[in-house]
Amino acid sequence: MEHSIQVADKLHWVGVRHPELKVFDDLFPTHNGTTYNSYLIQGRKQNILIDTVKACFSEEFFRKVEEHVAIDKIDAVVVNHTEPDHSGSLALLLEKNPQILVYCSKAGENFLKQLLNRDFNSQIINDGDEIDLGGRKLRFILAPYLHWPDTIFTYLVEDEILFPCDAFGAHFCSDQLFDDEIADFQADFHFYFDCIMRPFKDKVRDALAKIKDLPIRMVCPSHGPVRRSTGNFAIESYARWSVAPPVGGRPKALLAVLSSHGNTRDMADVITTELKAQGLDVVGFALSDMRDDDYRNALEQADVLVIGTPTIQRDAPPQVWHALALISSVTPKSKVAAVFGSYGWSGEAVKMVEQRLTGLKYKFAAEGISFRFTPTAENLESCRKFAEQIASTVHTEE
Ligand code: FEO
Repeated sequence: MEHSIQVADKLHWVGVRHPELKVFDDLFPTHNGTTYNSYLIQGRKQNILIDTVKACFSEEFFRKVEEHVAIDKIDAVVVNHTEPDHSGSLALLLEKNPQILVYCSKAGENFLKQLLNRDFNSQIINDGDEIDLGGRKLRFILAPYLHWPDTIFTYLVEDEILFPCDAFGAHFCSDQLFDDEIADFQADFHFYFDCIMRPFKDKVRDALAKIKDLPIRMVCPSHGPVRRSTGNFAIESYARWSVAPPVGGRPKALLAVLSSHGNTRDMADVITTELKAQGLDVVGFALSDMRDDDYRNALEQADVLVIGTPTIQRDAPPQVWHALALISSVTPKSKVAAVFGSYGWSGEAVKMVEQRLTGLKYKFAAEGISFRFTPTAENLESCRKFAEQIASTVHTEE
């Protein structure tokens, strides 16, 4: 039977291990399972939990808490983030002890109302608020979109311990809890950032700015190892991985093209030549054989996304939809686009891709163009003008 683990004086890990997990949230593969970390802090005045665990592990969680304090002696729970892998046991906890006060962000309270569907005592916290547990204080730091709008970091002031929920975490499960007891989980740590935090790099930068002057001795995330030796390394890694795109230099166009019979490619060649003539750097991708990560990196650097697509079976091909699906997995530098393509008989793809980009909040640098079969000299001149218009819009937005 597993037990709680001491992290510091009157601070215990009361989380659970889930080594069998293969896919997190039905979205991201987990090569080494995961943990759901919850922490019990006992002050002279208050016993407080930082987050809970996934609902199916409630009984194990309660048993670990009760190694130290009865559930009816828990005064409060800090909900750093409401996703059910951390709030899942809260409903049952409140059933056992309805007096518990829930500290959370305003967004967190809104979400909890509909996650729990019951009344509960809550206190919305603001940036920098502190609460006194008796001999030690907790400070709250709003960190929205790391990775939900509700996220807060909690900082145990005297102990210099940060509880950042999902941030600085890793889907990694072993028999050990602390980083210095585990050989290497860097690949899982980086993959986790890539899946969970990369879509919010700008928000990561905002959160890092808020904690940059905090002395941090230990980082206790909600997944994976507790960083008692490498907390600052984790924070520095996030700073490196979320660096802002460079400013200045020539604007960049990302030109992503699929061309079944060479006609969309002929259009792309003219567009590329004109974009370059207008002073843009062009990074080209053939959507049929690109590496996703190269394309994602380019999205983070590009001032304009230009997509060339044929119409196949009254639709854009799957590779084009895949490239569009990857947009929400990063923080694109800009949301300016243009779409072009060739078709044989019906020609829906350009409009369909424009509609999808509109749904993703893109603006258009030029109205989409599409031509039937082999582009004529006149069609190619329209392509040149299309590129000229794109360049003019990008230069205007610089
Ligand atoms: Fe680990 Fe966003 O939940």
